[in-house]
Amino acid sequence: MSQRTFSIIKPDAVRKGFTGAILAEIEKAGFQIVSIKKQSISKKEAEGFYAVHSARPFFDSLTTFMSSGPIVLMVLEKENAIADLRNLMGATNPANAEEGTIRKKFAGSIEENAIHGSDAPETAAFEIGYWFAGHELV
Ligand code: TYD
Repeated sequence: MSQRTFSIIKPDAVRKGFTGAILAEIEKAGFQIVSIKKQSISKKEAEGFYAVHSARPFFDSLTTFMSSGPIVLMVLEKENAIADLRNLMGATNPANAEEGTIRKKFAGSIEENAIHGSDAPETAAFEIGYWFAGHELV
């Protein structure tokens, strides 16, 4: 069954000019881009998005980084989209990411790791609704 997930090309990858290459990987893997937009986000918006991590030691640094420059926000669709995007992304720490994954190819560090992808159906629903209005998803 077709499924939607939410993804972000993070500020490090946008700054380095990897937007097109990462989109190509995503499309090559069979995802449809349902909706896409490039914008900068505020620290407060980043804090709301990552609220689940608010008690973690990296929270302040992560939200400062995520609001440090333009990002590309996307809703993606395919069969098994959530798990398939996680596999395409690779491990959180690019040092541990498998060959051929987006983080192996494009990420610089555990924090500046190029791409976000929802980790479960509930988080995908929250994250899509956090960044996209219903009229942007038709
Ligand atoms: P997490 O949800 O664990 O990873 P993933 O993005 O692979 O789902 O963490 C969210 C983001 O927080 C992660 O992409 C980068 C950042 N982060 C750090 O900066 N340091 C860390 O030690 C961890 C675990 C995550």
